[in-house]
Amino acid sequence: MRYEDEYKRKTGRSAKLFAESSRMHINGVSHNIRYYRPYPFVVRSSSGSHITDVDENCYTDYWAGHWSLILGHNPPQVAKALHEQIDRGWMYGAVNEQTIALSKMIADSVPAAEKIRYTASGTEAAMYATRVARSYTGRDIIVKVDGGWHGYASDLLKSVNWPFEGSESTGLVGDDRIVSVPYNNLDDTARILDQYSERLAGVIIEPVLGGAGCIPADDDYLSGVQELVHKNGSLFMLDEIVTGFRFGYGCLYSEIGLEPDIVTLGKIIGGGMPIGALCGKEDVMACADATKRERSYVGGGTFSANPASMVAGSATLAYLKKNQEIYKRIDNMGRCARDGLADALGGTAVVTGLGSMFMTHFTMGDCRSVEITDAVQAARCDQEKLYRYHLKMITQNDIFVLPGKLGAISAAHADADIDRLVVAAEEFRRDEERAK
Ligand SMILES: Cc1ncc(COP(=O)(O)O)c(C=O)c1O
Repeated sequence: MRYEDEYKRKTGRSAKLFAESSRMHINGVSHNIRYYRPYPFVVRSSSGSHITDVDENCYTDYWAGHWSLILGHNPPQVAKALHEQIDRGWMYGAVNEQTIALSKMIADSVPAAEKIRYTASGTEAAMYATRVARSYTGRDIIVKVDGGWHGYASDLLKSVNWPFEGSESTGLVGDDRIVSVPYNNLDDTARILDQYSERLAGVIIEPVLGGAGCIPADDDYLSGVQELVHKNGSLFMLDEIVTGFRFGYGCLYSEIGLEPDIVTLGKIIGGGMPIGALCGKEDVMACADATKRERSYVGGGTFSANPASMVAGSATLAYLKKNQEIYKRIDNMGRCARDGLADALGGTAVVTGLGSMFMTHFTMGDCRSVEITDAVQAARCDQEKLYRYHLKMITQNDIFVLPGKLGAISAAHADADIDRLVVAAEEFRRDEERAK
């Protein structure tokens, strides 16, 4: 394929280094989604809206550290906080004032965060969420949605990828206790919840389906599920690891008027450093009280609440709080990206997303009246074409969206970046037409 040949010519040093990486690491990577064909470029440095590879190619970056970098790469206020913290020590393994400062900011803006427990990743926060739900209710079934991604925790590794039917992994036990429901389909969800009502511990949902296609949940869907779950005495859990502090200062659920029992956070609240947070209502989180004999054992881990992550998170949130016009600016760029890409690609693609997030779906056939509202519809789109589109952008336009994934705009991006993105999409459409 032409783009692959061009990509290889452009990334010779990456090819050599990735071969070396592959000798030591499974698939050459340290997170499955970081691999793409023919091989991922190898990064040397990053700054603002850019990421630079070992061949000195400088890309406008919409992957943005797994969408965690809302202020862009190494913004000065976060860098300053980290430099100062490094002088004071970066790992205490003990209660520290840096954690208290970050938690005050989260508690003030996330009403469900009456109690917080930090972890080193979103995966762990989601794992603890399911454990607390089971402990609190004394029931065993956790319901998630088709395509829902909550990290690699064993309790949630089911129905993540097409055909959204079974376990995502060998080596799991008890995955019959994870039940998946169709996203944005309240009738079918209600029917399945009813089937498991006596065993239902809780439901966990991303308010915008991220990895499975950047698809916002209908407000009615989320409030409908919340009502059913609460009527049943089960816990309503929102995974805001991507959406927390992404669309406004706080969580998306507050804007929609929901009242979750548990919220998981990560990514943005760590300012680009490792983090996860299990946040919940006081009475729910009380079951994790480690002084009780019967307790839900919610640990944290060696690196939980390390002062470096805490100050990077605090510096990020403090900056966002003071400069909330950032949200308006990046949301506007997001809207321009979605509209511009949809126009540029004509009737060949649907562009989904919300605020500063966007994702292109190449439907089979003309799609002017098609909507993408769940992971099944997204997965039925042309994944090979999506791969070509993203590889063309990397190769010919120096634009990096992780192939197959959504793009996230940061405060470091400029309107001109969005214009370039749209031009790249137009070129792609013309290339595809010529190739027919
Ligand atoms: C919605 C959601 N939940 C949980 C996770 C897992 O977080 P982490 O990768 O920090 O373990 C992710 C990661 O992308 C995510 O998108």
